[in-house]
Amino acid sequence: MDLGIKGRVAIVTGGSRGIGKETAREFLEAGVKVMTCSRHGDELNETCKELAKTTGGEIHSMVADMTNPEDIKKLVNKTLETYGTVDILINNAGTMYSGRFAELTDEGLQTQLDTKLFGFMRAIRAVSPIMREKKWGRIVSLIGGAGKEPDPYMFGSGMTNSALLNLTKSLSTEFAPDNVLVNAVCPGWVATQLWRQHAEGLKKELGVIDEEEARRLATRKNALGRFGKPEELANAIVFLCSERASYITGVSLNLDGGRLKGLW
Ligand SMILES: NC(=O)c1ccc[n+]([C@@H]2O[C@H](COP(=O)([O-])OP(=O)(O)OC[C@H]3O[C@@H](n4cnc5c(N)ncnc54)[C@H](OP(=O)(O)O)[C@@H]3O)[C@@H](O)[C@H]2O)c1
Repeated sequence: MDLGIKGRVAIVTGGSRGIGKETAREFLEAGVKVMTCSRHGDELNETCKELAKTTGGEIHSMVADMTNPEDIKKLVNKTLETYGTVDILINNAGTMYSGRFAELTDEGLQTQLDTKLFGFMRAIRAVSPIMREKKWGRIVSLIGGAGKEPDPYMFGSGMTNSALLNLTKSLSTEFAPDNVLVNAVCPGWVATQLWRQHAEGLKKELGVIDEEEARRLATRKNALGRFGKPEELANAIVFLCSERASYITGVSLNLDGGRLKGLW
């Protein structure tokens, strides 16, 4: 299927690995030019080299920390200098802040808010005037199921995620007259480094010593009974940015193998 976005320009934050990397790959395969970033240059450069080689697409990158407002401005400026415009923003750079209430710290929560809530919001603020002016834009934010179904262990991420869902819906209404579509995806457990970084905490939370057992228990609510693959997330994200999704805005699509049982 022709996605109708060949020649468009996308910023994919956090593209050095995981879901961001696979999203960048699928954009490149669809003929979209990509700008990406992360905090660690070596991994980022390796990934960009690999993606350029395997897809033949055009990708540039810069080291940027999305908690830093100046870095966000530099990332958008570099995109404009390199490609002349920006059509698509994928707010992906981020992590998870997990743990029970007693373990959470103000500092940890602040970092989560700075990375995902403020980082995502500032990136939208920087690119949306450009998209609104040209009457075409796509914004997709990677949020997470704990924003819809509160979970005591995922409280730190969940609070940020609920705010991001509100932001997504609000901005989808505000930007719709200018054909800028604002959507979100809510991953469940996806097999990336993020999961591995949190495996120890999850083992403790689930009361098991074996990582495979933790993995099995983590997916017990999930109808498909397995972790998602980063490329399965990328498929849906790129579709939401395509011309084929021209009537979809304000949705938060659960990409969780049927984990959430609610009706939205
Ligand atoms: N995997 C899951 O199960 C899951 C579930 C729910 C939601 N999500 C969300 O999906 C998104 C992608 O997660 P993933 O699983 O692909 O994680 P991942 O494999 O750890 O990749 C995260 C990417 O973001 C970058 N990053 C992290 N913090 C950053 C910052 N402050 N500034 C710039 N770049 C930053 C990382 O590179 P550096 O570390 O080098 O900066 C990396 O490129 C995240 O927003 C996450 O919260 C994932």
